[in-house]
Amino acid sequence: MSNRLPVDRVVQADGTTDWAPSPGGLVTAVEPIVRELGCLWVGWAGSADEEVEPFEIGSMRLAPIPLSSEELETYYEGFSNGTLWPLYHDVISPPVYHRTWWDSYQRVNRRFADRVALEAAPNAVVWVHDYQLQLVPEMLRELRPDLTIAFFLHIPFPPRSLFAQLPWRRQIVRGLLGADVIGFQRVQDAVSFRQASERYAGVPARGNTIVLPESPDHPSRSVLAQEFPISIDAGGFEELASRAEVQQRAREIREELGQDRTILLGVDRLDYTKGIRHRLKAFEELLEDGEINAHDTVLVQVASPSREQVEAYQQLREEVEVTAGHINGAHGSIGHAPLVYLHQSYSREEMAALYLAADVMVVTPLRDGMNLVAKEYVACRADEGGALILSEFTGAADELRAALLINPHDIEALKAAMLRAIHLPREEQQRRMRSLRKAVYDNDVAHWATQYLEAVSAAADAHVKQAEG
Ligand code: G6P
Repeated sequence: MSNRLPVDRVVQADGTTDWAPSPGGLVTAVEPIVRELGCLWVGWAGSADEEVEPFEIGSMRLAPIPLSSEELETYYEGFSNGTLWPLYHDVISPPVYHRTWWDSYQRVNRRFADRVALEAAPNAVVWVHDYQLQLVPEMLRELRPDLTIAFFLHIPFPPRSLFAQLPWRRQIVRGLLGADVIGFQRVQDAVSFRQASERYAGVPARGNTIVLPESPDHPSRSVLAQEFPISIDAGGFEELASRAEVQQRAREIREELGQDRTILLGVDRLDYTKGIRHRLKAFEELLEDGEINAHDTVLVQVASPSREQVEAYQQLREEVEVTAGHINGAHGSIGHAPLVYLHQSYSREEMAALYLAADVMVVTPLRDGMNLVAKEYVACRADEGGALILSEFTGAADELRAALLINPHDIEALKAAMLRAIHLPREEQQRRMRSLRKAVYDNDVAHWATQYLEAVSAAADAHVKQAEG
């Protein structure tokens, strides 16, 4: 279960409805696993005030959970994306704490838990995903103690000093401790959670394990809280990028942008965590300094629309669009805009073609749980070409050590990395890309799921033993 299903229900201009792939890294990573396992996926279908019947896509069975427009405002835009998202991403934007949002978050988590309690077979494994559903593990355990419950947090877990701000920090920790296994992206996230567990639930960890003491209603049990860095279907992306039509499209993109120009590429949801402003600032300064110009270099920035009703996202869009206009106004010429800014979503095929066409991939988040775009770029580059600039504040930086790692707050370092990447000799590109590809293939999403599910099945065995007395 996750807040969003892998497809969104969209109403076309002529009133007919259709399904479109959902945005974000969670779906990119989890969909191939669910397809493979053929299990039931419970989540929201992306539109408010609609009851959608369960349906199937291939081997996936999808069970939509309805949200009202009021819940969209309070649970989704409010508590999930106005409170938790900014708090968990280093308060880059100030989190807002509203008691009505919290009430709605509890209500919607309860709805998800109730639905899964009805659907799950005896002794089933339920895998709960991400920050929108942190209360579900505890609620579900109360309803269905026979289930094995796993939780995975796709975003960072905040350090102690920040998590302390949350008025409902105790309830969130207790909610998560309802799971048998809690997975995090980075070591630091797991460490922060174990500290929060000690402080706010009074249960310290031994190594990666938190042992909950026996109570009058519950036997003692243990919870594994550990890092399991997520990944992508690397083979799937490589196969996509090898298709003749995708390669042809990559050639067209290069021709349209100018064969001799160096193409820099940024691909993000339009989110303040992604460091898009820092990236544009560095790019603009390089143009101002005369280090690059519109004839020899172009930056393609895909910023897919996201959470458009949330104020911080509206502000960001305005700032990015003013800056984009400024860059092209000041540094473009007829026929040559230094920046191609695209506030649109694209198909996987088009993304793969863009990755193939790009000489330099620029990934500059100020904080990111993992960042799968960096891994997608690497998986598509079977030609061992291209250069990756990667923020050290992404989970991916732990694995992709052969990238040009940068601190995005350090604009001078970012500019230097861009210039270095633009001029990176072919041998160094190859050497780095080979090492990056090994890292991505050594931990692809199948490997991630195997590791995680092995831990879950060990928990399930312990569960059975406990039930047998
Ligand atoms: C991130 C989150 C996901 C979320 C996605 C898209 O990847 O970890 O939980 O679904 O962004 O955001 P949205 O708010 O559109 O679902």
